[in-house]
Amino acid sequence: MDQFVDELFRSGIRLDSDQLRAATAPIVPLIITASPGSGKTTCLICRILFLLKVMRLAANELLAVTFSRKAAEELQTRLQELRFVHPLTVSSLQVGTFHSIFLRFLLRNTHSPITVLSESEAKSLFAKAVALEGLSVGRNRIDELIRIVGVLKNNLIHSDALGAKSRRSKLLQRLYKSYERLKASNCVLDFDDILIQSHRLLTKYPNMRQEMQNQFRYVLVDEFQDTSPVQFELLRLLATPEGNVCVVGDDDQAIYSFRGADPDLMLRMELCFGGVQKITLNTNYRSTDQIIQTADQLIQHHAKRMKKRMVGTNRSGALPLFIRPASQTEEAQYVLQYLGDCVNSDFPSETCAVLYRTHASAVCLLEYLRKNRLTSGQVFLASLATMTLHRAKGLEFDHVALIGVTEGELPHYRALDLRSASARERCIEEERRLLYVGITRARKTLLISAPLRKDGRRVKVSRFVQEMELKK
Ligand SMILES: Nc1ncnc2c1ncn2[C@@H]1O[C@H](COP(=O)(O)OP(=O)(O)OP(=O)(O)O)[C@@H](O)[C@H]1O
Ligand SMILES: [Mg+2]
Repeated sequence: MDQFVDELFRSGIRLDSDQLRAATAPIVPLIITASPGSGKTTCLICRILFLLKVMRLAANELLAVTFSRKAAEELQTRLQELRFVHPLTVSSLQVGTFHSIFLRFLLRNTHSPITVLSESEAKSLFAKAVALEGLSVGRNRIDELIRIVGVLKNNLIHSDALGAKSRRSKLLQRLYKSYERLKASNCVLDFDDILIQSHRLLTKYPNMRQEMQNQFRYVLVDEFQDTSPVQFELLRLLATPEGNVCVVGDDDQAIYSFRGADPDLMLRMELCFGGVQKITLNTNYRSTDQIIQTADQLIQHHAKRMKKRMVGTNRSGALPLFIRPASQTEEAQYVLQYLGDCVNSDFPSETCAVLYRTHASAVCLLEYLRKNRLTSGQVFLASLATMTLHRAKGLEFDHVALIGVTEGELPHYRALDLRSASARERCIEEERRLLYVGITRARKTLLISAPLRKDGRRVKVSRFVQEMELKK
């Protein structure tokens, strides 16, 4: 064990005592809960190394589940860069999203070819189902209906099991059935079907289950707070009976319940697996004290959360900057100028990102960036990332600008316009967590912008700005 710690140290990883406990815990069901930037993903990587080097598991016996293909690639790259194990060992690790892992499983275990619809193809097919039912429903409503069907599917709720009492749920049931029929007759699957079909096969055929359980001796899951019930059931099937599983997550960063993810599964985990060991990490190694304080200020406005502390490492920096540009064009100019100044030729290796709630709110900035491509400076462009807040999960940048922090955008009007007060409150909470994820991506500086006008119309500053106690 000491040798393992020495080797980690030589690879440049200096885990604190809680992190080391998490990485080197005996093989029991392990839950690591911790705030952003506290080294959850780092611990997951070190635990993989521990399982390989100390527990002597073979690389192809380990399964690491990440939340995106990019995150899977990054995990592999980080492992490669550490030069702790042979590159061939790293490449034989099974790393992927629930969807990619179970698509592989389906391909191995079904004889007919499998066609998976893209998100937009699934939407078109759903629209066709609506038309076949003789209904005329607007584009936004179709998006919402297919989203609800997706949530039901992620909860393993079959269309037959829908309590179709009200007119609304009768309509939903009709469309859900029609959509499923249409997919079956075209021999295609949507993303959720990959999980549902795998679940069906694994529960129906003990030999398939056994084979998969034998293949994977240990399962690790990153960003567990965004796991849906069907994914949880799959995990349970894989990790039974020994419970050889390690999950890491942060309920404050749950941002996918609109798709059926359920952060309460973190609590269920303790009930489902016996002998669970829980470890909490409290130190944020990523951000300056000022950024941590702003994030903390915001998340305090949540009523229901797991008790967690977030302490910095006494790195002091500038206070987060809050600006109110007159228009989106002015916002684009200011933000790019600001980030360009942060990442000038004196700091060429630093990274920066512009984050936004929806693509629509970034159109102006992206267009501005495209037009000014030649005058913006290569150093800056090479280090600039632009993406939605959902995509930014798990990542970190030296300098972060959050744009469009206005009512209707963040929180999004889809949350604000909900009729049921409790649903509205729940969705606004998810919007707050999304902003929390955004803020905690920043290492050194943070800029928050709320334009006065959007498409020529006056917009109000987001309620969250006041909650963060940001001043202009
Ligand atoms: N013990 C440590 N000493 C110094 N730096 C550390 C330590 N642990 C982690 N870090 C650094 O802190 C940063 C955040 O780590 P990591 O990405 O693993 O956090 P995380 O908990 O997964 O964050 P998120 O919740 O955003 O996914 C990384 O840059 C990592 O290298
Ligand atoms: Mg992480």
